[in-house]
Amino acid sequence: MEKTLLLLKPDAIVKGVCGQIIDRFEKRGFKIAAIKMVQLTRKQAEIHYYEHTDKPFFHELVDFITSSPLIAMVIAGENAIKASRFMMGSTNPIDAAAGTIRGDFALNIRKNIIHGSDSLISAEREIKNFFTEKELYL
Ligand code: RTP
Ligand code: MG
Repeated sequence: MEKTLLLLKPDAIVKGVCGQIIDRFEKRGFKIAAIKMVQLTRKQAEIHYYEHTDKPFFHELVDFITSSPLIAMVIAGENAIKASRFMMGSTNPIDAAAGTIRGDFALNIRKNIIHGSDSLISAEREIKNFFTEKELYL
């Protein structure tokens, strides 16, 4: 079954909307294979976002994602990567359709509530940055 890494970013915890977001994935039919609350180190955040290293917003992105704890989870199910990206909506919440997670819970491109892996290769790499094999229940 396909797996993807989701991060409920620090703003999701501050806003108190994690339960509602997890509920959407469960209702859709995805299984939770792993879940934990964690405060990222800068190093772990830089590994997670390495593809954005040269972007002008990289420093702010790392500042934000390490600012307070987040919830990391792996969900499993058919087309988990593509389906969860559709459920999340556009990166910039201003462009995200109503009914998507960012369209319903966010207004700011940095504080955009959720991360989801964007390909099979990214999912495999990102999951390893957060969970050991033993922590995955499939
Ligand atoms: P994510 O990785 O968080 O799931 O988001 P994404 O694939 O939709 O977007 P991506 O291009 O990977 O960007 C990662 C995060 O960087 C922030 N960002 N800021 N122009 C900007 O200031 C800008 N562009 C992107 C967003 O928080 C995005 O989620
Ligand atoms: Mg991305």
